[in-house]
Parts: sequence; C-alpha cells; structure tokens
Amino acid sequence: MEGCKKVQVHVPEGLRCEYLNSPLGVDTHTPRFTWRINSEDSTMMQEGYRLFVGTDSAQVAAGKTNVWDSHKITGASSLVSYEGDSLKPFTKYYWSVQIWSQHAQSPISKPASFETGMMRMKNWQGQWITDSADVKTKPAPYFRHPFQVSKKVKSAKAYVAVAGLYELSINGQKVGDHILDPMYTRFDKRNLYVTYDITSHLKNGDNVVGVLLGNGWYNHQSTAVWNFDKAGWRNRPRFCLDIRITYDDNTTETITTTPEWKTSLSPVIFNSIYTAEHYDANKEQPGWDTPSFNDVRWHAALAVAAPSALIVSQQLQPVRAIEEIKPKNLVKLSNKKYVFDLGRNIAGICRITVSGSKGTHLRLKHAEVLDGTGNVNMSNIDVHYRPTDDTDPFQTDIFILSGKKNETFSPRFNYKGFQYVEVTSDQPVSLTRESLTGISLHSDVTSVGSITSSNDMINKLWQATNNSYLANLFGYPTDCPQREKNGWTGDAHIASETGLYNFDGITIYEKWLADHRDEQQPDGVLPSIIPTAGWGYEWGNGPDWTSTIAIIPWNVYLFYGDKKLLADCYDNIKRYVDHIAEKNPNGLTDWGLGDWVPVKSVTPKELTSSLYYYADASILARAAKILDKADDAEKYSQLSKKIAQAINDKYLHKDTGLYGTGLQTELSAPLFWGIVPDEIKSKVVANLVKRVHEDDDHIDVGLLGTKTILNALSENGHADLAYKVAAQETFPSWGYWIKNGATTLFENWPIDAKSDISRNHIMFGEIGAWLYKSPGGLKPDPDQPGFKHILLQPHFVEGLDYFTAKHTSPYGEIVSSWRRVDKKIYYTTIVPPNSTATLELNAKSVEELSKNNAITSNDGEHTTIQLASGKHVFEIVF
Ligand code: BGC
Repeated sequence: MEGCKKVQVHVPEGLRCEYLNSPLGVDTHTPRFTWRINSEDSTMMQEGYRLFVGTDSAQVAAGKTNVWDSHKITGASSLVSYEGDSLKPFTKYYWSVQIWSQHAQSPISKPASFETGMMRMKNWQGQWITDSADVKTKPAPYFRHPFQVSKKVKSAKAYVAVAGLYELSINGQKVGDHILDPMYTRFDKRNLYVTYDITSHLKNGDNVVGVLLGNGWYNHQSTAVWNFDKAGWRNRPRFCLDIRITYDDNTTETITTTPEWKTSLSPVIFNSIYTAEHYDANKEQPGWDTPSFNDVRWHAALAVAAPSALIVSQQLQPVRAIEEIKPKNLVKLSNKKYVFDLGRNIAGICRITVSGSKGTHLRLKHAEVLDGTGNVNMSNIDVHYRPTDDTDPFQTDIFILSGKKNETFSPRFNYKGFQYVEVTSDQPVSLTRESLTGISLHSDVTSVGSITSSNDMINKLWQATNNSYLANLFGYPTDCPQREKNGWTGDAHIASETGLYNFDGITIYEKWLADHRDEQQPDGVLPSIIPTAGWGYEWGNGPDWTSTIAIIPWNVYLFYGDKKLLADCYDNIKRYVDHIAEKNPNGLTDWGLGDWVPVKSVTPKELTSSLYYYADASILARAAKILDKADDAEKYSQLSKKIAQAINDKYLHKDTGLYGTGLQTELSAPLFWGIVPDEIKSKVVANLVKRVHEDDDHIDVGLLGTKTILNALSENGHADLAYKVAAQETFPSWGYWIKNGATTLFENWPIDAKSDISRNHIMFGEIGAWLYKSPGGLKPDPDQPGFKHILLQPHFVEGLDYFTAKHTSPYGEIVSSWRRVDKKIYYTTIVPPNSTATLELNAKSVEELSKNNAITSNDGEHTTIQLASGKHVFEIVF
C-alpha cells in the first residue's frame, strides 16, 4: 500500500506569513501563508495540505485549532490565504501546516505566528502630535512621556505612525533596529505605522517613552529641481503612538500620544533626507528619555490633524544597517583635512569618533570621486541641487563637538551615496583610519540568488549589479543614492528581474505598487518618479518608464506565483492602457524618453514607447485571463495584436528584415518583446548579429536596449555572441567599468562622460538577470509560475569553463551548474521538492549520469528532458 511506504515526508519549513517571519501588525483580513518542503526524496510532490490556525501554540502544534482548520485540501500549492472567520485586532495567532505527498503524510509543522495590528482606523487611541515649530524650523524635536507600570506585564506592543522619520526609545534604549523608518509614501494619501514588541523594554514602576522626529520626505527643507520643498503634504513632522500593554491578569492598558506629552528641540540641529544632517553635541540633554530626567523646561506638545485618512501597517523588510566598512585608506592633507576611502561605493552613512576642543565644527563631505589634488569632488552628483544659501551643503554632515573625549556622531535621518569622505575641521583634530566607519544601509531583503563563473570579471560585475540594486532600495527602488534618491519608474522595471533573481523583494515591490496606485490620476496617468510631490506628471512618464504598473506585478507573479499584486493593480494597468489607447487610436505612441543614455545611436522613441505600450496591453490580456476576466482577455489581446501590427507596419521592412535603420535597440527590442512575425524572424536575427559585429561585438544601446540586446541574441541562437558582448572589457561595456575599478554600475558608458555621471545607478542592471537566464538558463514558466515548473535552458557559452546559477524559489533552492571538461559539458541541476523542470539542450548526445530516469525526447537537434525534483547530472556532447 502506497500510504504505508517507509518514505519520510519532511515537516514543512520556512513558514512565513505575508512573506515575513512571524510578522507583527498584520492588518489584512486574509493573510497569505507560505511554506517549503525540505525533502531528500527526489520525487517528493505535495498532493494535499491542511492549515491549522489558533491562538494557543501548543494546541496548534497538536493540530487542534480554535480559529481555522482548513481540513485536508487536495493541491500542490504552498501559498494559501486565510479563509477562516474574521481575525481580531491585537491578537497573536499561531499557524502550522501538514502536507501529504504521493507517499505519505508529514507531521504537523512547528507553529509559526503572526500578530494582527490595528486592523481598523477606529482602533487608534492616540492623537497625532507635533511641537509648535513651523516647517522652516531646523532642529528635530524630541518628545517624551512618563508612564507607570504597576502590574506584571505579559506583553507590550508599540504602534507608531509617523509623517517624517522617527527614532523610538524606551527608558533610554532605542526600540528595534529599523533605520529611516517609516518608508516613504505619498503622505497625503497613505501613512505607514510600525509595530514593535516592547515587552522587554518595560520595567515595573516609572517608565519613559521618547521619540525623536526627523523630516524625511515629509518636511523637505532642501531645495532641488523636483520641488519636494513645495510638496502639498509638507509640514512639521508628526506622529501618533499607542503602547498597548497586556498585563498578566489579562487586563490591558494603552499609553497614547496626547498634548500632555512634552517636547523640546534636540541636538539634531538640521536633518535632510536629501542632503545631510547637522548635530551639535553641546545641545545634548543626557537622559532625556529616562525617568530621572527633569523636563520642567520642556513644552507641551500640540495636537494636530492626521496627515491622511489612511494609516496602514508597514509590512516589509525595513531599512537596516547592513555592513560596517573599515576605510581602506586615509590621506591626511593637513591637521584640519583628512580624506577617507572606503574602497568601494556604498549607500549609507558614516560613524565618526573624534576628540577635539569644544565648539569645533567638523564637516564630513561624502563623494564618489576625488579630484586631481586628492580632495573630494561632488560635481558629478550635485547638479540638480539648488541651494538657496550655504547652510545646507550637499552630502555634508556637520558635527559640532562638545569637547568630551571620544565623541561619536552618526546621522539618523539621512543617507548618502559615496566612497570617499573628506573630513575638515575649523580646529586641528587628529584622526586615524579607525576614527571613521562606513555603514551601508538598504532595505534588508534576503539574498536568494548567486552567480559564480570562471570569469572573474563577470563575478565582479554580478556583485556590482547587486551592490547598485541594494544601494537603490530604500522601501522603494531609486535611481541613485546621491544626486536624486528618486523612485524613477523606468530604472526600476528594467532592473526588476535582476532584483527578483537575487533578492526576496516582494514586500518592497508590493509597497511600491501601492504607491503607484496612490499616484495614479483619474485619467490613468502615472508620474515618472514615485512617490512624487507633483513633479513627473508632465515629463518622462510615458509607457517606456511607467510600465512599472504592469511589468513589476507581472514579474512578481512569475517569481512568486502569487496573483495578488496583479489583482491589486489590475484596474490601474487597465486605466493606464486605456489612456494610451484613447490618445493613440492608431496603436503607436511616442510618449516617453526613449533609449535613455545610449552609447551613440538613437532609436526612434515611437518604436520603443509603442513596444512598452504593447508589453502593457499583453500583460493586461494575460492578467485578465489569469483573473478570469474573459472579455478583457479578448479585448486586450486584440489591442496588443493591433499595436504589434502598427509597429510592424511602420518600422519593419519585410523584404530586408530590418526595423528602422537596423540599430541594436531597433532590432533587439521587437525580438525581445515578441512582435516579430515568425517568417521574418531569422532575417531580423541575422541583421542583429550583423549589426553587433559591425559595432565590433560591443553594445550600442541605451537603457531600453540593455533590457533587450543580450536576451534577443541568446534567445535566438546566439548566446556565444551575447556572452562576448556581455563580457567585453573595453569601451563600451559593463566590463569596462569593472576594469576601471567600479564596484557599482555607472549611469553612463564612458567613465569620463560629461553628464549623467552618477556612479551608482541600477538602470543598466538587466545584465544581472541575463546571467541567470542565458548561461544559467534558469527561468520561471509563465504557465506554472513561482518556479512550480522551471525552464532550464542553459547556454554553455564559449569563453566560460564553468558557471553556476542558484536561486531560492518559493519551493527551495534551484541549482543550474555546468563545467566544461575537454569537449564535454557536465551539467548538474537541483530541482527543489514539489516542483518539476524541463531541461532543453541543443546537443548531439546527452547521457544522464544520475540515473534518475529523467524523461527524454530528442528530435535530432534538440533534447528535451523532463525532470522531477532532486539532483540530476548529465554528460553532454556536442
Ligand atoms: C535619472 C534616471 C532616470 C532619468 C529619466 C535621471 O535623472 O537618474 O535614472 O531614469 O533621469 O530621465
């Protein structure tokens, strides 16, 4: 009997709720549960599951529930939404899962938990408060409130909603490890609150809760071209806090914000998310957030209106201090000027420890490059800054010393993009390499991918791509961490596959797409930077950029197999597509920026913008099908055909197989987006190959072409050439930057370009995804997304001796790895439990060494092998 077989079905593991480990503050009524199966049984497939949800962990572990028992459900899914009775706010729920395979049933998993938050706006008890200062006031305000704890505390949670930024402390201890919290949203539409478990912070008797507020994007005092200083939402930062204490006797008490809270200005005498932070240590008030502090000189807080009607829980990986970096080098230019070199470009901050005389002004100038004299040079990054005086220097922290020995400063409400820090002082100070530490910051997304190859430059390039991706992830994807910090849409959709192969970023994308929905105008128009204070609705927001609304939900669906984001954005995609259709009844649009920052050749904007319009319409058609909207599916698939036809009618020369004049982007973009008629495809491909050879096997593309050039070549039988282009080390290429010492991706191809010269841009980052797709050959299957079924199409490209791509999918780690030995390739793949793969190879003979009886078909040229989960090894002869 099958059920009696002695096969072990491992306990499900990696249980997450809303893609987070044991989250607090869950506000959704239908949280999503996910799990993985760790099994050595290579044929392991889940055939059924049962979820248990309850409020008692021991009971849930034993399969007894008082909240929801899904009972056994037949199905292979490991992503299931809660379907029980209404969840209650402020409640800790435990959940566990049991699964069935074709062989046996697993034990019930160890319970994981999630805790609900406010769930409804009416559950907030506190008032929004601030101080009496105006928006121009520079020092950041402190707030404090003493309270008593007189009974034994069972648990205590703090719910803090802030317009601006905050640091929360209790009894002198910072709560949590989030930085630059809460994440940036369109403040007049939606504000985020954060939940902390503060049980261990409380003590019997006197307690004090302290809050320091920063400006963030809410009160943007610096002036630059995007007019954030004129934002309609701009105001003095404000917050609302509820501390909910549950005592041992199960009674609860809520400490809330009221105008009785006391406030005073802090030593943070200026803070700008965009430029820097200034700190005067002479203004410190030691013990301000502890019970023994005397606050008679503090003022009463001011009750104010909430910034928006929607205060929702922040459910994502927060920004954290990720890594401390010791400077590689220190040059002392004088006893008042030192230049530190971190050895690599980062987004983050510095911590400096110094001894000097009272009142000494220290300036820490952060830059990406040095000038010829060894001083920092900011001319590549301060071009859009429009200071009105000299009190707010760009990327320059100011630290005024109190005269104590070994004083330390590190900004709280700002970050910068830099490699070098020039420290100047108005009094002599003595600094050593140990005086300064670089601290990299970004959204703390888990790494889920890796690339290793026999080409060291490629390995460095992959690392540099990830460095730039992360340096541009702060609760929303940005273009660059220094000059702008803007959520440029085009940069982000181009880099989204790179992001998803390498990092578990779904929570950040879900949040950012909610920002998109907040920004969409009634006519469907979206801005080019998101969030925005209004800039970007008139410029740069055509489909080549703001197709984020369709492309990112689609890619998240492919990588996670989760329809939620597509469903949440469905109407928004539709409104965007309908808007373009209405304005452009002939199917072509030239709304957009085109192939931005090209090497040399300029592709017609109408071709690329219309292709993105096509991409949106076809994603919409596919989404309609997935979401059971048959009429829309038909309507938008007709629309996408019409757009493709219009593009081909105007740009494709059927006789020659050229699009336009046959530039790299002109040819590769129609191939990549799939509009080239089958009968002409080989001609178009041949033209592309010819064009690339004429360009000396180097790229001649801009942003949009970087998405398509390598993929169009490798997907159409020219992976060797794609690799040759990708691995070039001479101008123009990615490798040219790496050979010149880059540790991040640049914004422009020449390293001495005159404009668009940030050194930490993710926009040219598609190459990171291409490494997974072509030499790695590891792709999601749109028909069974989330890597339920994996497409393995590795290209054993000339020039590489070995290559390994690994990606941890929702089902577990997928490995696609090969090594060249003489004329043979040894290919190893690991297909995780509960998923399958199809391996496609162009090879004369393929022998399976692992003897797993993979199912093979061969049509003489191509070998197609169906793989069950487990490890498979093949010997391949060409
Ligand atoms: C940004 C780019 C962005 C572009 C759009 C630049 O200033 O840094 O990355 O996509 O503007 O025009």
